[in-house]
Amino acid sequence: MEIIIQPNPQAATDIATRLIARLLKEKPDAVLGLATGSTPLRLYRSLIAMQLDWRRVRTFNLDEYLGLAPDHPQSYHHFMWENLFRHINILPENVQIPDGLAADVPGFCADYEARIRAAGGIDLQVLGIGSDGHIGFNEPTSSLASRTRIKTLTQRTREDNARFFACAEEVPTHVITMGIGTIMEARTNLLLAFGEHKAQAVAGAVEGAVSAMNPASALQFHRDTRLMLDEAAAGGLQRAEYYRWVYANKPKWQQV
Ligand code: PGA
Repeated sequence: MEIIIQPNPQAATDIATRLIARLLKEKPDAVLGLATGSTPLRLYRSLIAMQLDWRRVRTFNLDEYLGLAPDHPQSYHHFMWENLFRHINILPENVQIPDGLAADVPGFCADYEARIRAAGGIDLQVLGIGSDGHIGFNEPTSSLASRTRIKTLTQRTREDNARFFACAEEVPTHVITMGIGTIMEARTNLLLAFGEHKAQAVAGAVEGAVSAMNPASALQFHRDTRLMLDEAAAGGLQRAEYYRWVYANKPKWQQV
């Protein structure tokens, strides 16, 4: 894991933006895994501002609420089109987001996995982290080998996400999410985390034992995972000084 601590969320986002821009230049038909929530909003604004060429890029989103139609204002379909896709030249047929209205959920999930494989796998997956350590919507105790499937949200996640809905009861109870096993197959994972409320989950993921109780800790087994943190999200790390030192002393060829 590479831990990059920056003074504020925008500085951390700028590094993630540069990495994605570089990938799209090197591989114009790259396969990106995308995330929703408050955390990647700056990233999407920065990518839009760069006016990159997205015509051959394919994307797979991590998750979607079950029961919400694509045009529901809180659906992740709506989020992605509003906050990224409608501002770039991506082709709609190259956008994949789990279907919140899937009639056959297991069948849909198996097909989603098959589509990721057929695309050649995910080159770079953007991740946030829940205050409980979830990645995608893989809540604590999710199998570390899980694939795309239905999950039941914890009350904590429903409360965390209630701010987007009129009231907490409106937050769906079920979702479709890529599994931890799916995420582990992405060639690169970029996890962004900002704010004090993420500090405990980040510390557990980086310095704690690998455990399904903190799903992001599975990334300790991933070969190319980078965490982009602001100071507040890095606040629980014991070895923060070492991570800063590593970043400050990167050989020139490793710098981004
Ligand atoms: P947030 O959500 O970016 O809205 O904090 C992150 C997550 O739940 O993965």
